[in-house]
Amino acid sequence: MTQPLPPEFLDIATGLLQTPATIAPKYFYDARGSALFEEITRLPEYYPTRTENAIMATHAQAMAQAIGPGGTVIELGAGNCQKARALCECIQARHYVAVDISEAFMREAVAGMRAAFPALPIDAVVADITTGWALPAHVPKGQRLVFYPGSSIGNFDPPQAQALLSSMRGVLGMEGALLIGVDLVKDTAVLNAAYDDAAGVTAAFNRNMLDHVSRLIGADFDARQWLHRAFFNAAQSRIEMHLEAAQDVDVTWLGGARHFAQGERIHTENSYKYRVNDFVALLRQAGFAQTQVWMDAQQWFAVVLARP
Ligand code: AVI
Repeated sequence: MTQPLPPEFLDIATGLLQTPATIAPKYFYDARGSALFEEITRLPEYYPTRTENAIMATHAQAMAQAIGPGGTVIELGAGNCQKARALCECIQARHYVAVDISEAFMREAVAGMRAAFPALPIDAVVADITTGWALPAHVPKGQRLVFYPGSSIGNFDPPQAQALLSSMRGVLGMEGALLIGVDLVKDTAVLNAAYDDAAGVTAAFNRNMLDHVSRLIGADFDARQWLHRAFFNAAQSRIEMHLEAAQDVDVTWLGGARHFAQGERIHTENSYKYRVNDFVALLRQAGFAQTQVWMDAQQWFAVVLARP
């Protein structure tokens, strides 16, 4: 009996046949990829997570006051739900919804959240927020706070980011708010090190995508034949991650094949770095008129509260 093709098949196969080839960053996140990303967030070179956490901790009271008590926290890309814990406590949330693409990883994290907040109604929604997402009907409509930490907005190019911000604006109604983390432009050496760490965790994260994709489309990638490349592209204001063929490589998958010459690359991720004013302008274009910004002393990262 023939197996039906997975829904991701066309997306991945089309990207592999492009010049240059691409694989969308959402395919980083199988169970191993999610665990490797967790490891990245603890690396000395990867400043975004600890800087954002410090901003949230330092300004927790001011943020809670600006947000107001008792709303519904909707966390996008919830991951391990760690960041939402302090926030839910601080604003005395009445409902928490975790939305993430990785089912196995999130179910575990939500179980932890339920243990920490036994009286809080909690929903887990497995969804790809780039292809449309909906909340369960019973999630209260008033006072919604969409929480999108971690600067994941940087993984979309500006038009996609604007579309995604507009979709969040749609979920909020007029009395809701968006609390979003955004990584800022800084010294190139700091940026490059954050995406090419000495321990090779980001390299393993990048290569793991090939194993994940191989399972999804029946491909025969050998991750050992691919080199991790990451660098800041100043003209585009983004970190780019690529996988580069260390030798000539022939890859086949169900119904398709491609030859990669030595040195040829697969573009796997962009991570845009913003100037605060440019990000506020993007929020305006997405329908958010009021913004409040908190930053660390080095101005490496910003947490922005935005209202329609
Ligand atoms: C999830 N996202 C915000 C990370 C970033 O920094 O762009 C993904 C990542 N890629 C490599 N390291 C971390």
